[in-house]
Amino acid sequence: MATVYLNGEYLPAEQAKVSVFDRGFLFGDGVYEVIPVYQGHCFELEGHLARLQRSLDGVRINNPLTDVEWSEMIQTLIDRNGGGDQAVYLQVTRGVAPRDHLFPANATPSVFVMSNPMQPIPDAFKAQGIKCITLPDIRWQRCDIKAITLLANSLLKQQAHEQGAQEALLIKDGHLTEGAASNAYIVKNGVIYTPEKNAEVLPGITRDVVLRLAEQAGIELHQQMITEAELHDADEIWISSSTREMLPVTLLDDHPVGNGQPGPVWQRLITLYQHLKQEQNLG
Ligand code: PDD
Repeated sequence: MATVYLNGEYLPAEQAKVSVFDRGFLFGDGVYEVIPVYQGHCFELEGHLARLQRSLDGVRINNPLTDVEWSEMIQTLIDRNGGGDQAVYLQVTRGVAPRDHLFPANATPSVFVMSNPMQPIPDAFKAQGIKCITLPDIRWQRCDIKAITLLANSLLKQQAHEQGAQEALLIKDGHLTEGAASNAYIVKNGVIYTPEKNAEVLPGITRDVVLRLAEQAGIELHQQMITEAELHDADEIWISSSTREMLPVTLLDDHPVGNGQPGPVWQRLITLYQHLKQEQNLG
């Protein structure tokens, strides 16, 4: 049985219980992070803790732990769950209080953390690419906050799944925002484009890594608006997330992307990404 962390205690998962009055349960009032773990070590932990702070500030919840306390607790949980490749999920809610839309005067934030074995990325996704569909972006106007309130994302992802696709690429006012659970990129004539960071897009930690790697490799990259027409005319499309790394999209709305194979720019970046994972584990 997996060990989880709940409000200061390490517990067997089945013993972890929260109140029905928790505002996470009643209002979806909380924020979260998903952190990949390779060979027992967190990947890009600093970036995830910085984004957690940003999300907490965005919804005005005090951070209940220091970065050192987060790091130590997360590492303890990873170790107790046997190391290896895991995905840490953590969430902080505003806490337990009588139901009222207004913030409670003095609730204590609830902290829940679990770490599960990383779901392997199917080889076929890398070898042949994935299928995506475009869908209208029906989410709220603060998608830069990593809120636990994921009903819209869940509906979009489910719709993609029911159409045999692995991800939905979201369109708002004629331009690409991101995937239902990933950031998105296109390549045209060897240049990478990704939507700029704004309130329509989650500031992805994997996206930061992709930007860094592209710069180190001297590959031109622009953060700018991508129209729906540009998306459909791209040579390559990729998505990125902490749990799916970088995946090439080879079929979009039932049309092949470029020549229908994972492209050379993705190939180069995913190779650098794998090197970085190794380096962080050694370092
Ligand atoms: N989601 N955009 C959205 C809407 C996401 O949900 C995610 C990740 C990303 C990529 O961010 P990052 O590179 O920091 O993982 C972008 C996680 C994995 C999830 O909800 O499970």
